[in-house]
Amino acid sequence: MEIRTIDAGEIGAWRHTMSKVFAFDPAADPHGDERLLALLDLSRAFACVDRGEIVATAAAFDFRLSLPGGSVPMSGLTMVTVMPTHRRRGILRGLIAHHLEAAKHHGDPLSGLWASEATIYGRFGYGIATESESLTLNGVEVQARGRALDEATWVSGDAVHEVCSVYQAAAAERPGMFSRDASWWKFRRFSERPDQRGAASPRAYVVFRRGEVLTGYLAFRQRLSFEQGVAAGSVEIDELVTLDAQAELSAWHYVTQVDLFPKVTWWNAPVDSAVTWLATDRRRVSRLRRDTMWLRVDDVARVLAARSYGLEGTLRIGVDGETFALEVAAREGVGGPARCVRVDGEAEVAMDRAALGSILLGGFAPSMLARVGRVQGTATAVARADQMFASAVAPWCPEVF
Ligand SMILES: CC(C)(COP(=O)(O)OP(=O)(O)OC[C@H]1O[C@@H](n2cnc3c(N)ncnc32)[C@H](O)[C@@H]1OP(=O)(O)O)[C@@H](O)C(=O)NCCC(=O)NCCS
Repeated sequence: MEIRTIDAGEIGAWRHTMSKVFAFDPAADPHGDERLLALLDLSRAFACVDRGEIVATAAAFDFRLSLPGGSVPMSGLTMVTVMPTHRRRGILRGLIAHHLEAAKHHGDPLSGLWASEATIYGRFGYGIATESESLTLNGVEVQARGRALDEATWVSGDAVHEVCSVYQAAAAERPGMFSRDASWWKFRRFSERPDQRGAASPRAYVVFRRGEVLTGYLAFRQRLSFEQGVAAGSVEIDELVTLDAQAELSAWHYVTQVDLFPKVTWWNAPVDSAVTWLATDRRRVSRLRRDTMWLRVDDVARVLAARSYGLEGTLRIGVDGETFALEVAAREGVGGPARCVRVDGEAEVAMDRAALGSILLGGFAPSMLARVGRVQGTATAVARADQMFASAVAPWCPEVF
C-alpha cells in the first residue's frame, strides 16, 4: 500500500471511495468532481492505494484563520476516509503524517479539522478549539422594546455579492472564523445542491441594512408543515452573521416572525448568541452544545506571536517539552502585540500541543484544563495565563469542513 497525491484524472475514483465511507450517492451530485477540483489543491490531496484501488482519502483546504486580534494560515484537514476493509492498519496515521508534512511545506503553522468522532484526533495533537450550540426555538417571540431595527430585505440574485463584505468584517473580529475566496462561496458555502435539501425550500437570503450600510445577513431554508391543521413550519438557519447588537436583534426579530413558520433551528450557532436574552420566554430556546473545530499548533512561536492578549507582560509556556517565552507589549492598559521565541529553561505553565490548540482562541481557560490535569503550573501562573488568553468574543467556526 502506498500513500501519494492524486492527479485530476483520479478525482472521480477518489470521491467514489469517500462516498462508500460516508455513505452518499456520488451520482446524486453530478457536479461533485468539478466542485472538488475547484476547491482542492491537488498537491495536498492524498490517497492510499492498494493494488491499484484507492482505499483511503485525505485533503487540505487553504484557510486563513482568525485569532483574537490577528490571523494565521491554516491547513484545513478534510475528507478523511479509510475503507472499512482497511481500517485499523495505520492508514489514518500515515495520512496525517503526509498532511502535516504538506502543511509545513506550504508554510502553515497550524492545522484544523472537524472530527466525526471525538475520540480520534487527540492522539494526533489536535485539541477542541471551538464549540457551537444547536438551537431550536419553539414559538419564540423577540420584541424590539423600543430599540431601532435594521431593514430586512430579501435578496434576489447574487447573494454572495451582497454578503461577503459582511462575512469578512465579522470574520476579522471573531476567532475561529476563516476567510472565504470566490470559489469557496460558489462551490462550497452557497452552492445549491438539491440532493442536500430534501423537502425544504431552496436556500434563501435576507440582508439587514441601516441606511445604505449592510449590517448582517441570514441564509436559511424553510420547511412547511402543519400539525392537525395548525402551521408548524420551520426556518432552518444555515448561517446568521451580524456586525453589531442592533443587527443581531433585527435578525432574530425577523426570523421569529415569519408567518406559518413558528419553529426556528440553527445547528451551528455561536455559544454567545444573544437569542436567549432577546426571547420573551428563554425556555422556548433549547440549546445543545458540542465541539466543532479542533486545532493542532505546529509552529508555536509563530502562532502565539500572531494573536493579541488580554494582559501585558511575559509568560514562559511549555509545549510538549519545549519552552517558549511570550512577551506581550502594553496597549492602553491591556495586552498589545506579542513576541514569542523558543528559549531554554523551565516553563511557568506547561501543556501538550492539543491543550494549546484548546486555549489558543480563548474558548477554554487554561485553569479549566489545569483542573483536569491537562495544564500544569502554579495557581498564579495559570491565573495569569487565563487573563492573557481570554477572548472577549467567543470563538466560533461557522461551517463544517
Ligand atoms: C476514523 C478512520 C479514518 C480511522 O482510520 P484507520 O486507518 O482505521 O486508523 P489507524 O489505523 O491509522 O488508527 C490510528 C489510531 O487511531 C485509533 N482510531 C482510529 N479510529 C478511531 C476511532 N474511530 N475511534 C477511536 N480511535 C480510533 C486507532 O485505534 C489507532 O490508535 P493507536 O495508534 O493508539 O493504536 C476510519 O475509521 C474511517 O474512515 N472512519 C469513517 C470516516 C470518518 O469518521 N472519518 C473521519 C472524518 S473527520
